[in-house]
Amino acid sequence: MHEFEALIVGAGGAGLYAALEASRAAKTAVISKVHPMRSHTGAAQGGIGAALGNNEEDRPEWHAFDTIKGGDYLVDQEAAFILAEDAVRAVYDLEKRGLPFSRTEQGRIDQRRFGGHTRNFGEAAVRRSCYAADRTGHMILQTLYQQCIKNEVSFYDEFQVLDVVIENRKVAGLVALELATGRLHVFRAKAILFATGGFGQMFRTTSNAFANTGDGPAVLLRRGVPLQDMEFFQFHPTGIRGMGILITEGVRGEGGILRNRKAERFMERYAPTLLDLAPRDMVSRAIMEEIRAGDGIRGDRKINDFVHLDATHLGKEVIEAKLPDIADFCRTYLGLDPADAPIPVQPTAHYAMGGIPTDNDGRVLADGSGALIEGLYAAGECACVSVHGANRLGTNSLVDLVVYGRRAGQDIARYVEGTDFPALEKEPEAEARRLVETLTTGSGPHGAVIREEMKDLMMEKVGIYRSEEPMRQAVSEIRALRDRYREVRAQDRSKRYNTDLLEIFELGNLLDLALVTAASAANRTESRGAHAREDFPERDDESWLKHTMARLDEQEVSIDFRPVDVSRFEPKPRAY
Ligand code: FUM
Repeated sequence: MHEFEALIVGAGGAGLYAALEASRAAKTAVISKVHPMRSHTGAAQGGIGAALGNNEEDRPEWHAFDTIKGGDYLVDQEAAFILAEDAVRAVYDLEKRGLPFSRTEQGRIDQRRFGGHTRNFGEAAVRRSCYAADRTGHMILQTLYQQCIKNEVSFYDEFQVLDVVIENRKVAGLVALELATGRLHVFRAKAILFATGGFGQMFRTTSNAFANTGDGPAVLLRRGVPLQDMEFFQFHPTGIRGMGILITEGVRGEGGILRNRKAERFMERYAPTLLDLAPRDMVSRAIMEEIRAGDGIRGDRKINDFVHLDATHLGKEVIEAKLPDIADFCRTYLGLDPADAPIPVQPTAHYAMGGIPTDNDGRVLADGSGALIEGLYAAGECACVSVHGANRLGTNSLVDLVVYGRRAGQDIARYVEGTDFPALEKEPEAEARRLVETLTTGSGPHGAVIREEMKDLMMEKVGIYRSEEPMRQAVSEIRALRDRYREVRAQDRSKRYNTDLLEIFELGNLLDLALVTAASAANRTESRGAHAREDFPERDDESWLKHTMARLDEQEVSIDFRPVDVSRFEPKPRAY
């Protein structure tokens, strides 16, 4: 049993920034199933957007507008303004804390172009992404981790969250499994923040780490918290073909060009102004259109057709200086040098726009009315503020982490000061203990087959293109997988580092979230951002300019709605 005023679950950028702020006033701990330096923030390559205007004129208002338009107007607009305005302070704050940004010749933080980021409300691409070569996320992790250590934050590395205690709409604690020993730990806390990242592992092809299994949203969903806008899942246009490993948009930001089998720059036909730097939903669909028209490059039995990302004209020197990790990935996984040959790429499941609904201070919403769950917070990819709406712009995930992670941490610091420790029920770990015992008693099938089937069906039926019948099939097939999941048992019965058991928990979380994703997607009968329905190809503001709020009860997903804040810019059709 442990007691902390502030407890942070997840040690990526959002969790660490929240811990840093909370620890100014509160006894704070971070629990994470991976070592903080292995958090998925480290995979964010190309940069963090902020209107510093170091290379050309830029304004936070333009950044906010791009974010709202890029999100196909499902973005809460006040939240987008907070994001864009605070991004500037956040980047300088990171710089002062020691983040080694790449520099202009004058010594300022250098900035590169990124998809959907424009000057003067869409006129042309703008250089807004502040970067540290192609290791920006990793540098953010290192910077924030050092600061947390300095602030004496306690770290519980390799602890898997299993359950959370919420009573009368107030959080009281959580239960976690220590992977090194197999022991259950109870954490009592005044405030708990979830920053557990995304859940791209529900798809066959993904840029997401193996750890991205949606543990936070799934644990809360099972305790009655609704999830918002789960139908919106982003496919990044450029994953390494057949593997999904991310090739940063920074390659296109530096001038890389997408080409089809005829070596045509096909984005000229889809986004005549922004070309290869249109928002990701559009570029991913453009790639799929080329492939459907027979203009992709032929794959083989194992690898679907793909297109080329051509960076050869950038030259070796620029690639090695600005995109060194990408050059390494290409050499390691493809056996090619991007200075000499184009990179074969395919869209890859990348980012969950939906998640745990919060207000602008990271406080978790209990329902569509705006009521709160006291002491419960969320930030980062697992949360839905919502600043990304139906489609996130590149670089805005890192902005989201540092802006909203910090705001949540500050609110936690305020909240714990005037709050007593909540009473904790007698055996808060009872449910988690029962679960571990069930999974490690008797015999049953292995979960791996179910996991593979889930990934395939989500990719095929709830992927880039969607329509009614396949999604309905997906819902019923996931229900069947969840029935089979109940029989699964760990084959490994050891206590220490039982990764077999860990993977079963993770699979349960993915299945719950897959069901909510498929059901929310089937319910939304329009196309918006990353949710592209072939049977409803138009955006329908009259019926669908609203956030989905989904709950799960056994096998049933019930859906409610909450309004979108459109207080600044009137929704318009998107063109780039
Ligand atoms: O392309 C990238 O570097 C990814 C960045 C992001 O998802 O924001």
